[in-house]
Amino acid sequence: MAQSTSSTGNQPLIELRHVDKHYGDLHVLNDINLSVDRGEVVVVIGPSGSGKSTMCRTINRLETIDSGEILIEGEPLPQEGKDLARMRAELGMVFQQFNLFAHMTVLQNVMLGPVDVLGVSKDEARERAMDLLGRVGVAEQADKVPAQLSGGQQQRVAIARSLAMQPKAMLFDEPTSALDPEMINEVLEVMVRLAQQGMTMIVITHEMNFARRVADRVVFMADGQIVETGTPDEFFDHPQTKRAQDFLNSIKDH
Ligand SMILES: Nc1ncnc2c1ncn2[C@@H]1O[C@H](COP(=O)(O)OP(=O)(O)OP(=O)(O)O)[C@@H](O)[C@H]1O
Ligand SMILES: [Mg+2]
Repeated sequence: MAQSTSSTGNQPLIELRHVDKHYGDLHVLNDINLSVDRGEVVVVIGPSGSGKSTMCRTINRLETIDSGEILIEGEPLPQEGKDLARMRAELGMVFQQFNLFAHMTVLQNVMLGPVDVLGVSKDEARERAMDLLGRVGVAEQADKVPAQLSGGQQQRVAIARSLAMQPKAMLFDEPTSALDPEMINEVLEVMVRLAQQGMTMIVITHEMNFARRVADRVVFMADGQIVETGTPDEFFDHPQTKRAQDFLNSIKDH
């Protein structure tokens, strides 16, 4: 389709170059360099407070940066206005908290963005929304409001809502960490399928089995820096740095 005929060749879809950010005295992002190719799945792991969420949020400019560059398909992030809104729509984001609109039905939640932002007709938006809800396994919940759904179902609706915007990439910030254990897998399965279908994804998660299964690359962050990066096998079986080794040992005990 016309949308995907970019002339960008081998250019990364998302690129962070020498990104720095401070919160007061805290150097929360310290010379972050990361490039993500089309179709690539990058899993970001690291201790609490290492800057994972902050990094993720800078990519769609929910957070500003002090210096460095963030490029989407080779273009600098728009600063504001319509261009920024359009870019945000192109990068789907799913958080730990589902952030669904409580007063709307599941179907309305998924239709809203396409109708309001993309200008899709209601009929077409409804059809697409039902298709997406089916793909994440919650079509029969379409007319309920979010509070009537389980956490795992709500998170799958949140994923469908992001996908309804036909994003170029999806950013996930610990999408399963607020869920009861029995609901984690149903959400991870949806993400595994998305990855298999070729979606470009950055996923912050502590789900190591998921990381091993779908990550093309694991990025380990500590103290605002990317300390180590490698394939899942390289990283999990042969971590190079003491910090990564300590981190992996600390989560093994759970
Ligand atoms: N708005 C803010 N103002 C000041 N400090 C902040 C702000 N947001 C985050 N921080 C601090 O920045 C650091 C990195 O936070 P961030 O949320 O990016 O970490 P994280 O790696 O996602 O951690 P977690 O695994 O707990 O989610 C933390 O020390 C946090 O307290
Ligand atoms: Mg976080």
